[in-house]
Amino acid sequence: MASPATRGIGMNDHMHKGAGIAGRTILHVAVDRRARTPLAQQIYGSIVSAIGEGRLRTGAPLPSTRALSRDLAVARSTVVAAFDQLRAEGFLDNGRGRVARVSPRAIRTHTNPRADDVVVKRSGRALTISRRANGPVGFPGDLAALFAGHTPRPFRSGVPALDLFPVDLWGRLLARAWKRSLPSSLGYGDPRGYLPLRRAIAQYLRSARGVSCDEEQIVICSGSQQAIDLAARVLLDEGDQAWVEDPGYVVAQASLRANGIGLVPVPVDSQGMDVRAGIRMARAAKFIYVTPARQVPLGVVMSAARRRSLLAWAASSGAWIFEDDYDSDIQFASRPPRPLYARDATGCVLLAGTFSKVLFPALRLGYLVAPVRVAQAIARMKHLADIASPHLHQAVLADFIAEGHFERHIRRMRVLYQGRQELLVRLLRKALGPSIDVSRADAGMNLVLWLPRNIDDAQVADAGAAVGLDLIPLSRLYLQRDPRPRSGLLLGFGGIREQDLVDGVAKLESLLRSA
Ligand SMILES: Cc1ncc(COP(=O)(O)O)c(C=O)c1O
Repeated sequence: MASPATRGIGMNDHMHKGAGIAGRTILHVAVDRRARTPLAQQIYGSIVSAIGEGRLRTGAPLPSTRALSRDLAVARSTVVAAFDQLRAEGFLDNGRGRVARVSPRAIRTHTNPRADDVVVKRSGRALTISRRANGPVGFPGDLAALFAGHTPRPFRSGVPALDLFPVDLWGRLLARAWKRSLPSSLGYGDPRGYLPLRRAIAQYLRSARGVSCDEEQIVICSGSQQAIDLAARVLLDEGDQAWVEDPGYVVAQASLRANGIGLVPVPVDSQGMDVRAGIRMARAAKFIYVTPARQVPLGVVMSAARRRSLLAWAASSGAWIFEDDYDSDIQFASRPPRPLYARDATGCVLLAGTFSKVLFPALRLGYLVAPVRVAQAIARMKHLADIASPHLHQAVLADFIAEGHFERHIRRMRVLYQGRQELLVRLLRKALGPSIDVSRADAGMNLVLWLPRNIDDAQVADAGAAVGLDLIPLSRLYLQRDPRPRSGLLLGFGGIREQDLVDGVAKLESLLRSA
């Protein structure tokens, strides 16, 4: 039942009382003014659930924002904000001003495609999956699509040169660590992580990244993906808002959403996240997810001025900064900029690092550096999630770092990636003309090839998949659709062999010529 503070409406084209909503589908939206969750977020959540539970099907028209705002007695701008977010996340089709309809993409990408399988009716009671699982956890598509296969096709992004990883050396260290571990290390491990590894990481961060920290501030996680999930669970409550970069790293965004966090898409320009825009959009945000060393996906380095204003804002507003430092070790010419963490005097920054890019993703090891009190809370949450990360590979990694192999491997990879980036840019210029717009940093394992406005990057990516190319269309990485995102492709080169780059550019050229 709706409480006095709650308003809900049922709408149906057969109902007589719903003026102005004829022809629209049944929709129940409830808003609770006493709840902590912002009203726009509640409206968004109700509609996501209706889609997830199959109450709103593909193509179903929604009421107009005017009608919905009137019936719920909320400002129209609140409903517009909810619809904008639904559109940005692919739940609804259309531009503003026309009838909003449930997008076919919503069903495919955001809901369990076989919801009927899990909603089992027994003695009249429906067993349903959670609203969280029906929404963001469905992103980005079916499970099989989350695994892109073991052999990277050109231009798979974010995969290092796996064929040049020193597997024999790792194997020897593994055998040695295994013998050394027996039998004492076969028990449950420390949720904070293996102490020698935490010490080795602290030492590395002090010398390579100018971060002053010790092992008490470090928690070993299953990659940075677990770090973001744990940070959200420890630092945020459902309904809190987080700034995220737009365009940005969709997997981290999905994790925040799965934790019930409202995303505030803050634009990114040539200086990185636009802090002033973020303040304008959501002063009350509790969390800022940012990739300052090399923005994902645009590759820009956050300027010193933006870093200062972000830190100042976070300190004064009480927001946490989650600094995802995922690939700053891969710098070709200079040292990476010092992390925000190293400049923070107030303890509001958490620094996440990963070994997925410099070593290999299957290792599933990363870390979070945080003030001691926060690190302890994170470790307790880690204990609830999976007790501790596996001991054996932590032990091997600790030796790999301590014995100098880590630094040597990074140095080798930097030279390799720099060569591959130069080759890719040369090939693209030769194939597509010297004036192509390529944004590259002297760092990393991918770059952006901007396309002319009239070329639909998503169509190019779909056509590319059919001829053996892995292309990420930039437009799919934007949450805001207005203004229309620029068209472009994210091209990975780090894990792609030279000959495959040559073949890949030839295929890309013919795709673009016929686009
Ligand atoms: C921005 C960003 N953070 C982190 C990661 C790595 O995640 P993980 O450490 O969980 O493998 C990636 C990988 O693509 C990434 O792009």
